[in-house]
Amino acid sequence: MCRVAAVKLGGGAITFKSAPESVDEDSLQAIAAAIASYRLSGGTVALVHGGGSFGHYAVSRILSERSSLLAADASPVQLSMLRLSLRVLQALLSQGLRPTLHPPHSLCYTADPKSCSFEPLKRDLAAGLVPVSYGDAIPEGKLTRIISGDDLLVEMASAIGADCVLFVIREEGVLDEEGKLMKTVSSLEGVKVIKKEGFDVTGGIAKKVESALRAAERARNVRIVGAALLQRALMGEDVGTRVKA
Ligand SMILES: Nc1ncnc2c1ncn2[C@@H]1O[C@H](COP(=O)(O)OP(=O)(O)O)[C@@H](O)[C@H]1O
Ligand SMILES: [Mg+2]
Repeated sequence: MCRVAAVKLGGGAITFKSAPESVDEDSLQAIAAAIASYRLSGGTVALVHGGGSFGHYAVSRILSERSSLLAADASPVQLSMLRLSLRVLQALLSQGLRPTLHPPHSLCYTADPKSCSFEPLKRDLAAGLVPVSYGDAIPEGKLTRIISGDDLLVEMASAIGADCVLFVIREEGVLDEEGKLMKTVSSLEGVKVIKKEGFDVTGGIAKKVESALRAAERARNVRIVGAALLQRALMGEDVGTRVKA
């Protein structure tokens, strides 16, 4: 079983990317229940959630009007992400967890996750709470840059000394060209983008595998898994796609 788990709730797994600001409540509740059961077994966990039809949609809407995000654009994107965060926290709370929110626009100086301070998050972990962060919009000079939830997770995982790093996505794991589950992935080669789904402004599955490979340099158990497999992954079972450096 995982001792300290860092888990990314993919925006695609907790929202419907096809409609703006729509939450997949069933999926979110199932994920929250899996995390609650893991906590009851004595595990420690910190979470990061993605943007899905909230952040990615807000960014796409602005980028359809002009080519870059200005500093002022951080505001509506941040608000959109906060609306999703509240839904995530509510779901976790309803499953008996005690989540606390750590917005990157307050914890990070730039969109580089190395600029983030994870001390407040570690404080909450030590108090037995479940810290939650997310992908966010960070003003940088005249522009706004997006901090990817996947990148943030890798940095957070290393800050909290996570032995398990799990990326929850809509599919059951990384799929090959025939749509079959790849049991292990140890490089970006061979990972094919098979579905051009929706709008992921931070790079989709290829970027996710790249982040997972970086996480695997430090954590012993790194996986990309579907929501239905999360509980078993937290128990240390060989499910979804294992990512090995
Ligand atoms: N080879 C593949 N294996 C798994 N998922 C893939 C693959 N190619 C494309 N995808 C798509 O990438 C999604 C995961 O990346 P992303 O859209 O960034 O999700 P998230 O919102 O969870 O970050 C999957 O849900 C799927 O729609
Ligand atoms: Mg993504």
